[in-house]
Amino acid sequence: MAFATRHFVRAAASSAAATAAAKKLIVKHVTVIGGGLMGAGIAQVAAASGHTVVLVDQSDEILKKSTKGIEESLKRVTKKKFADKPEAGAEFIEKTLKNLTTSTDAVAVVHSTDLVIEAIVENQEIKNELFKRLDKFAPEHTIFASNTSSLQITQLANSTTRQDRFGGLHFFNPVPMMKLVEVIKTPMTSQKTFESLVDFSKAVGKSPVSCKDTPGFIVNRLLVPYMMEAVRLFERGDASKEDIDVAMKLGAGYPMGPFELLDYVGLDTSKYIIDGWHSLEPNNPLFAPSPLLNQLVEEKKLGKKTGEGFYKYK
Ligand code: NAI
Repeated sequence: MAFATRHFVRAAASSAAATAAAKKLIVKHVTVIGGGLMGAGIAQVAAASGHTVVLVDQSDEILKKSTKGIEESLKRVTKKKFADKPEAGAEFIEKTLKNLTTSTDAVAVVHSTDLVIEAIVENQEIKNELFKRLDKFAPEHTIFASNTSSLQITQLANSTTRQDRFGGLHFFNPVPMMKLVEVIKTPMTSQKTFESLVDFSKAVGKSPVSCKDTPGFIVNRLLVPYMMEAVRLFERGDASKEDIDVAMKLGAGYPMGPFELLDYVGLDTSKYIIDGWHSLEPNNPLFAPSPLLNQLVEEKKLGKKTGEGFYKYK
């Protein structure tokens, strides 16, 4: 009897595991659309972890630049990871680059992909148009994911007919270094899709957290209002920006102060995010625009990338 019970329990457990495995999609082939800062990083970590990856962008020239950036980044990673084993490092780079190809034709390459990760320009209409087009050509089982920081995943999913196979995969910059991925589940994302996205995030060496489709997800929802509050504190003349930065570094243990961080992220990007949220929730004081931030953006003082933002970088 004891044997029969044990046998039954074991059989039931293995059949439950088999059902779960049959349900979940194991991602092997990935198409990353957009070979900029984020897309190139995502393609790199996916290829480095054994996935076959096609990186798509609008021109061969851009893709050449993306590939060069990936090669340089791989060299940096390898120097650290294989400090004592240069041969193993060289093999790792070779294997990773073998897994990676590029294309300028998204439609032509999605026919055999398990997962499409979109990392193109932050524009709702352009992203919707891309997803709508790819939806017609990607196989039934293919999961679509967006790396958007500020747009609603639900609205992007609604441009397709596969809302259950659609979620958010929000990586952080620089992708090869940052361990976090926010996996976003809309009300229509199936559990199976969600689990596949979590598994994929782990497979590329990241630590996934899950969040509903809410403005800013977790990190930016806390970080952007914090930076805006710092600007308001400064605007009111309560403290200097230098003192606010020192205070948050020494008092809260943050590696950068809010003004240093704003300059690093880009003031235009921060303004774009806060304006988008403000239009969604005009009465939320956390999302109120800042006259000073708007003025700096108008003067093209966008932060480190333009040589001046809250600070000068020359
Ligand atoms: P980026 O400007 O560096 O790269 C975007 C790339 O997409 C460009 O190479 C562009 O040529 C390409 N592209 C534009 N339209 C395309 C199309 N229709 N088909 C194929 N390629 C197209 O932008 P970045 O910073 O990499 O951002 C991409 C996405 O990632 C955005 O949605 C952004 O919100 C999100 N994100 C950005 C982070 C950041 O720190 N920059 C952090 C997390 C998410």
